[in-house]
Amino acid sequence: MSHTRVRKAVFPVAGLGTRFLPATKASPKEMLPVVDKPLIQYAVEEAYEAGIRDMVFVTGRSKRAIEDHFDTAYELENELEQAGKQAMLDLVRSISPADMNCLFVRQPRSLGLGHAVLCAEPLVGNEPFAVILADDLMVGDNGGPGVMAQMTAAFQKQGRSLLAVQEVPLEHTKRYGIVKGEAAGGALMRIEEIVEKPAPEKAPSRMGVAGRYVLTPAIFDEIRNQPKGVGGEIQLTDAIERLMATEAVYAFQYKGKRYDCGSKEGFLQATVELALQHPEVGASFRDYLKNLSI
Ligand code: UTP
Repeated sequence: MSHTRVRKAVFPVAGLGTRFLPATKASPKEMLPVVDKPLIQYAVEEAYEAGIRDMVFVTGRSKRAIEDHFDTAYELENELEQAGKQAMLDLVRSISPADMNCLFVRQPRSLGLGHAVLCAEPLVGNEPFAVILADDLMVGDNGGPGVMAQMTAAFQKQGRSLLAVQEVPLEHTKRYGIVKGEAAGGALMRIEEIVEKPAPEKAPSRMGVAGRYVLTPAIFDEIRNQPKGVGGEIQLTDAIERLMATEAVYAFQYKGKRYDCGSKEGFLQATVELALQHPEVGASFRDYLKNLSI
């Protein structure tokens, strides 16, 4: 690994999305729209803002809509052009800027997040890369940089793997990878311990890992050589724990807000809060909410 510029982002989108059934029976959960954009588009825009141009999607069965979303839509674009609807045409075309590359690889079975990341190895190669879980919708603080832009800037300085973390309520530790470590200056903490989804009484801290990582390519060997973990899946957390034996790994306390859009409640919160900020519908939606008798 010769440089610390992050040029590639991996989007593991091959999960089954069981928490969102029946919506996810035939449609990818990453295509669920928050106001007017699918979750995967928010994630790709966050990576693009961070200077990343190669987007690697790890897809699975019934995920075709994701590929189509980032592809040219000839019929639609032609119709809009004929009808002189330039603003809509620009909107559709802006989804895939000309300098962005979309690459796809299939994960044949949902064997876990670690396994999904390993499927991306042939397209990532021997360089650092971002991992973005699109069902965690992340918004930077008040117009500040997005979470991935914050992380790639931090990675450029110290060149070691970074995991986005936030403080979570004690009763929610079972939903997260939980880390404990030593302050390492600014937003960084050197991780000493990481546990996947511990019960509150077993959690070493309340710092939970959110769905954003910058990883060195050494992670691939760790995933390849590890046995199955919690739930019979190949967990990314286990590979990160093994990586810590040979390389320092840091937790990064980002500035921003995370919505767990893989859960119904988080998805609803994101929808309401982003709708309130939306330039087109925000004001009228606020009035509508105010007039609800709840
Ligand atoms: P989740 O734990 O949210 O799993 O995966 P899931 O299957 O998507 O959703 P639920 O829990 O059944 O509702 C975290 C991320 O890892 C991806 C998912 O697509 C999601 O972005 N993933 C998970 C894979 O790509 N492959 C896997 O084998 C497992």
